[in-house]
Amino acid sequence: MATPHNEAKAGDIAETILLPGDPLRAEVIAKTYLENPVLFNRVRNMLGYTGTYKGKRVSVMGTGMGCPSIGIYSHELIHFYGVKNLIRVGSCGSIAEDIRLGEIIMAQGACTDGNYAGHYELPGTMSAIADYGLLKLAQETADGFGYAHRVGNILSSDYFYTETPQWKRWAKMGVLAIEMESYALYCIAARAGVKALGIFTVSDSVVNGEEMEAQERQNSFTDMMKVALETAAKL
Ligand code: HPA
Repeated sequence: MATPHNEAKAGDIAETILLPGDPLRAEVIAKTYLENPVLFNRVRNMLGYTGTYKGKRVSVMGTGMGCPSIGIYSHELIHFYGVKNLIRVGSCGSIAEDIRLGEIIMAQGACTDGNYAGHYELPGTMSAIADYGLLKLAQETADGFGYAHRVGNILSSDYFYTETPQWKRWAKMGVLAIEMESYALYCIAARAGVKALGIFTVSDSVVNGEEMEAQERQNSFTDMMKVALETAAKL
């Protein structure tokens, strides 16, 4: 049952998984929030754990950075391990002037400057969207906690460093923030008929270069995790 990138055995991974980009963050999430976390993957140090949260079986695994990397892991999670609900928990850079550092953003849709959907050979452009049920649940959960959050479009960019400030054109289209993975995740989930959602904390402003302080970063990370875990527990 193992894949080239995941040594988990059949049944090791829960139907609901949280997906941070950083594998060490996956380990911290597992050890901080899950009861009885069990390590299921160490291949390429892309750590994955399964435990329970409020009695619900939940997994957490790193994805690496960029659409190709999350594309590999999420495809295998769905098609080899039967994962049904994939919740990306990440950070993003805001490109809208009125968004504050530490705010939570839920990606209703994801744009791309790459070509992840190219291999589907669609006769047009794929609009990659979150699962509405997951999004609604996450939003209700955030509302319940009283956490400020936005729901809208993001850009999954292939480029962290660019020659020119291309983000300005996306900002004109109402796109809220930049990250690097959700477009692929949403396409893969759509193709497989499973559910995906990206939830983010705004770690930096691409508009003015501001970055969060360590403590602020930790607080907003905790808020995002509470939203993601409570959403997972309700599935
Ligand atoms: N660009 C891309 N990904 C990111 C950023 C960014 O500015 N901030 C956090 N993730």
